[in-house]
Amino acid sequence: MISRCCYLLLVVITVADFCDGGVTSRFVRKLQESRDMPLDSDVFRAPPGYNAPQQVHITQGDHEGKGMIVSWVTVDEPGSSTVTYWTRNGQKRSAHGRITSYKYYTYQSGYIHHCTLKNLQHDMKYFYEVGTGGNTTRRFWFKTPPEVGPDVPFTFGLIGDLGQTYDSNDTLTHYEKNSMGGQTLLVVGDLSYADRYPNHDNVRWDTWGRFVERSNAYQPWIWVTGNHEIDFAPEIGETKPFKPFTHRYHVPHRASNSTSPHWYSVKIASAYIIVLSSYSAYGEYTPQTLWLQDELPKVNRSQTPWLIVLMHSPWYNSYADHVMEGESMRVMYEWLLVRYKVDLVFAGHVHAYERSERISNIAYRVVYGGCRPVLDENAPVYITVGDGGNVEGLSKNMIEPQPEYSAYREASFGHATLSIRNRTHAFYNWHRNQDGYNIVADSVWFHNRIWTPYSEILPSLK
Ligand SMILES: *[C@@H]1O[C@H](CO)[C@@H](O)[C@H](O)[C@H]1NC(C)=O
Ligand SMILES: *[C@@H]1O[C@H](CO)[C@@H](O)[C@H](O)[C@H]1NC(C)=O
Ligand SMILES: *[C@@H]1O[C@H](CO)[C@@H](O)[C@H](O)[C@H]1NC(C)=O
Ligand SMILES: *[C@@H]1O[C@H](CO)[C@@H](O)[C@H](O)[C@H]1NC(C)=O
Ligand SMILES: *[C@@H]1O[C@H](CO)[C@@H](O)[C@H](O)[C@H]1NC(C)=O
Ligand SMILES: [Fe+2]
Repeated sequence: MISRCCYLLLVVITVADFCDGGVTSRFVRKLQESRDMPLDSDVFRAPPGYNAPQQVHITQGDHEGKGMIVSWVTVDEPGSSTVTYWTRNGQKRSAHGRITSYKYYTYQSGYIHHCTLKNLQHDMKYFYEVGTGGNTTRRFWFKTPPEVGPDVPFTFGLIGDLGQTYDSNDTLTHYEKNSMGGQTLLVVGDLSYADRYPNHDNVRWDTWGRFVERSNAYQPWIWVTGNHEIDFAPEIGETKPFKPFTHRYHVPHRASNSTSPHWYSVKIASAYIIVLSSYSAYGEYTPQTLWLQDELPKVNRSQTPWLIVLMHSPWYNSYADHVMEGESMRVMYEWLLVRYKVDLVFAGHVHAYERSERISNIAYRVVYGGCRPVLDENAPVYITVGDGGNVEGLSKNMIEPQPEYSAYREASFGHATLSIRNRTHAFYNWHRNQDGYNIVADSVWFHNRIWTPYSEILPSLK
């Protein structure tokens, strides 16, 4: 029996060794460098009116989807932190937020308001007005997610490494116009790229906030921190990591008993979303590890069949950029994700697109050596969507030949959507910016790891 297992393992290894993997798309895209949109661009225009709320953005405000955190910035004076909200035929209610601000080298932020709306009804359209009672108010709306349940359909958008170039604007437009209709955007880190400017010019955090408001004020964006959120710059005295991000973007981490905004979870419809931090400690005994060990057994797949993990730095990546950067975290956490049958892992960081087969490599021990990815029904599919369009441009160099575990890869800007239909089926699409809004470049049905009794591994790969 043992020798038979070894033989099978050998076959897998041999196949992995000598066969090319899936599809490497050679689609020809425009190759000019991406440029940041200039400061006077239409998308960066501040709203009119004295002390008008700007950079309005929302994210889920609790664990179950009955809360929303509404945030915005005022620049002339602190102004009002009150949000008034109502349903079409309902009474107006109001909630009061708090103001924070920060200095970063010579930059002084505006007044950053965060206000949590609680006890909302599920699946309901709410209108809201920010800065009620202040000099200028602005009105927006959002829809709360449906009540959590195993067969509740829901469509997520996925964007990573967005930045603020003309290509970023194209990606966001494609997401908005995509008829799949993303209801909540999962943002897998690297937002503004303000840190690419001299002294991390935080004015570019403000422009980014104004740029994405057209979507982010109307639907929750779920935040993951990337390396461009660290803003660690001891040469100018900025030694507190994540300072701009943590002031500007609040997340409901306490609702999942997390002690840090960099790792937390939310339930949305039939999905349980776990956010991890590639840039916080993940060794044994660290807060993130203790939290994750505690968190995974709590996920009730009868309630939320779809278990999705978000992080910034991918564990599987066959591009020549950021090679091995996710490896140490993979060694620590991969066995847990396989044990708890995580369905999908989304990451960014590599500025391109890639989707893996269901694979694991959990036997890795440096002293034994010889381990490599193997097809594994209990393992997640790994998807890299770091192709939002930021100023650093595309990752064009790939490791050749395409590894067996890599199902599809392409160096184009774009975004993805994940449309959960019920407890067994989810329809996934990746769109490239060069195509029309509803054209799909990579598309696959995912079958839930708990509720689908049959194999997702192609017979040709077995
Ligand atoms: C802002 O509102 C306050 C209070 O209503 C008022 O006193 C002040 O004149 C207003 N400022 C401007 C510039 O409109
Ligand atoms: C960004 O995209 C929007 C929507 O397509 C468009 O109206 C706007 O002019 C674009 N801005 C720039 C600077 O490209
Ligand atoms: C957080 O911890 C408290 C106290 O231990 C517990 O009552 C609650 O259910 C936990 N919440 C979650 C989302 O795990
Ligand atoms: C899991 O969720 C189902 C459906 O909501 C519920 O009936 C069951 O009691 C839950 N199990 C646990 C252990 O909480
Ligand atoms: C789940 O959705 C898929 C795809 O729409 C469908 O084929 C399947 O019959 C559905 N399952 C149930 C139990 O409704
Ligand atoms: Fe990154």
